[in-house]
Formats: sequence, structure tokens, C-alpha cells
Amino acid sequence: MERPLTRNIHPNRPPLTAKEYEMAGGYMAVKQALLKMTPSEVVELIKESNLKGRGGAGFNTGMKWSFVPMGETAPTTKYIVANADEMEPGTFKDRLLLEGNPHQLIEGMIVAAYAIQATQGYVFLRFAYKEAAIRITKAIIEAYAEGYLGDHILGTGFSLHLHLHTGVGRYMCGEETALLNALEGKRATPRAKPPFPQVSGLFGKPTIVNNVETLCNIPHIINNGADWFKSLSYSEDGGTKLYGVSGNVKTPGCWELPMGVSMRELIEEHAGGMKDGYKFRGVLPGGASTDFLIEQHLDIKMDFKSVSMAGSRLGTGTMIVLDDKTCPVGFVHNLEQFFARESCGWCTPCREGLPWVEKILWSIEQGKGASNDIELLFEHARLLGPGNTFCALAPGAVEPLQSALKYFREDFEQHIHQRKCPYD
Ligand code: NAI
Repeated sequence: MERPLTRNIHPNRPPLTAKEYEMAGGYMAVKQALLKMTPSEVVELIKESNLKGRGGAGFNTGMKWSFVPMGETAPTTKYIVANADEMEPGTFKDRLLLEGNPHQLIEGMIVAAYAIQATQGYVFLRFAYKEAAIRITKAIIEAYAEGYLGDHILGTGFSLHLHLHTGVGRYMCGEETALLNALEGKRATPRAKPPFPQVSGLFGKPTIVNNVETLCNIPHIINNGADWFKSLSYSEDGGTKLYGVSGNVKTPGCWELPMGVSMRELIEEHAGGMKDGYKFRGVLPGGASTDFLIEQHLDIKMDFKSVSMAGSRLGTGTMIVLDDKTCPVGFVHNLEQFFARESCGWCTPCREGLPWVEKILWSIEQGKGASNDIELLFEHARLLGPGNTFCALAPGAVEPLQSALKYFREDFEQHIHQRKCPYD
């Protein structure tokens, strides 16, 4: 089984230096793209590979790049941004790539920048990823020294300057337009879309914001082709995927596997199954802002379409497992507390609705719930759903809530009727 993204990552060793990375075949894709391909050929190849965004939304990457204005009438300043603000609860996949092989990300960014003719790039890094910041800084310096960054890369007319920007620890900055506002030194609130950043992004210029894992796939597609990339996958989505499992399983972790591996294989084989004394009750398949799935879904493929058809989303592909000894009301309350705190306050439903949801859940968990609280939670989930807020934060936040009400409703009712948490 091929593991292109992680084959040069070894948990107990520092990441490859630029020279070691070159010896392992690194920066070949930069040479191939810049010296042998036109920008539009690069975009077409990525489109053909069917690479879908790994940040959670699954938008076709080549298609996204193709929206950037090109040619003589296009703005001369364009930007490439790596979204490394990984803050989705339960999600730690990009951290592995950032700490484990920063040159792979830099190489992906150089090729992406070339494809859209961007001359400035930013890695927008989560505040808490201190070790990653050190390693990326070192790798950027090395890449400049080796001539892969800077002016006239490999003697061509193409130049790229790359900067590391660390956030201040706000979940909101992972939303691409809030991220761009933060980079501009403004309050991190989302912008109206359209215009999409591809047309008007950082400082009003065309900008591509791609997730770290997405960008790390680029060099491998350039080196090996679209058909090879598609052949790695068990489903119509191409490539491999970094999957993760956390919760009361025996061996929580993160693994690179063919896109479309089954949920059962992930939990039972890679995560070693449930810890002794715990039973599987449900799972949030792609970080916290997805709907719960339950035992009947264990055999679905973990790809974008299959997880959607089961009623949830692949999201970041990093699952959080709920067991039979953990109170689902407390579990969801904990998540809603996070989302309410992280709301940027820009739009009223999210700013006012999420703290309200959090308070209702808290009172139910404390045995102080009222008989109409469940209906009230359903109503909030509807009001905070897609189309009613400025960005995806609130609709994502109510996904675990609405699905917990669907699958674990009796737990909510027991709390209210018994006037205490049955799990205490
Ligand atoms: P989205 O579906 O609105 O956009 C995804 C990407 O496709 C964006 O880059 C957007 O510019 C582009 N796009 C979408 N429609 C387009 C159109 N009509 N024309 C041109 N470009 C278009 O999703 P969004 O709001 O960017 O992200 C939501 C996702 O983020 C969720 O699925 C969630 O799972 C994930 N997420 C991930 C986190 C993490 O830490 N990795 C944190 C929070 C959420």
C-alpha cells in the first residue's frame, strides 16, 4: 500500500532537511512543473486527478485553481495561502504533516503558486502548533538557500516569497475569508461570498486558500500523474487520506490509508477496537462539526459521497468515538461550549443562538432541564442550520446536536425526567 504523504515521516526523527528531502525525491515536482509545464497544464493535471479539498469541504482543487484570473488582464499580485489553522475538535492530521515533513508542504505551495502565478505565499499556522512553527521556519530558510524560494526560481521568470504567520488561537480563522481578514490585520470575521477569494482575496487580490493535506498531495500528483493518484483510492475520490480516531479506543492515532477505507476497518483494526469495558455507541466521522453516525453505518466507506449518503460528512476524516459510558448530553454540551466560545459574533443567529444552546444543554446535564427543552433544541438546530448564518461555523456546530437528538433522544429525556445525569 502506497503512503506518499507520510512515507518520509518518522515519529522519533526530526523532519528531513532540504538536502535529505531532495535525496528522497523531493523538489522534483517543482522542477517538473516550472521547467516542463505551463501553469494551465498544472491546473489541468490537478483537475484530472480529482483531488478534493482535505480541509473538510471536499471542493475540487483543480477547479478552485481554475477560477483564478490569468493572462495579461489579470492582476499581477496574487497569493497562495496554506490553511494550517487546524482547530477542528478531534483533528490532528495536518499537525503530522507540518511537523513531520514541512518541505513537502513548501513544495506543494510552490507548485500551486506557479499554477496560479502567485508571487507571495503565507502559511497561516495554528497558534498552539509551536513545534511546527519552528520546523516550518527552518524549512523555509533552507528552501530559500537551495533556490526553491525567492526570485527567479530555478532560473525561470517565476518568483515566490513565502512567509509564516501564526494565528492567535481562534477557530474562526480556519474559515478562509476570516483567515484572510486576520492576515490583513483585521478582526477575523467572515466575508460575503461571492466574490470568492480566487477572484478577490487577500488585499482584494486573487488568492487560493488550500488546506495543508491538500497542498501536500500536489508534488506527488505532478510526479506520478492523475491516473496513479486515482488508483490509490478505494472510491471515486482520488488519493490517500489521513484518517484519525480518538475516544475510548485502544490505540488512538492518525494513519494514511486509501481514500474510502471503511469506518469499521479504521476503528477495529487501526484504532485497535474499543478499550476493554467500553462499547461503541456512535461516531462523529470528521471532527466535531459533523453528524453522528451509529453502528449500522460502520461498514460505509470513508469518502465524501458515502459519508454524505449516510447522513453526515467526511469533514476532516478524523473521527471522535462515543462509548456507552460517556454521557451523550455532556459530550454534546462540551462541543457546543467550544463552538459558542469560538463564534466570532459577526452574525446574530450564531452569536446569540450558540450560547443559548449551550445553556440549555448545561441545564439538562445538571438535571434542571424543562420538558420543552428538547423541542427548543430542535428549533435552534433548525434556525442555526445552513443558509441562516454568514459562514459554516453555526451549521457545523449544530450537526452533532441534531444527530444526538436523533440517535440518543432517550438520554436527553432521561436527564429531564430523572432530574439528574444517569451517567453520574
Ligand atoms: P465551502 O464549501 O463554502 O468552500 C470550500 C472551498 O471551495 C472554499 O475554498 C471556497 O472558496 C470554494 N468554493 C465553494 N463554492 C465555490 C463556488 N461556487 N465558486 C468558487 N469557489 C467555491 O466550505 P468552507 O466554509 O470553506 O469550509 C467548511 C468546511 O470546513 C466544513 O466541511 C468543515 O468540516 C471544515 N472545517 C475544518 C476545520 C479544520 O480545522 N480543518 C475547522 C472547521 C471546519
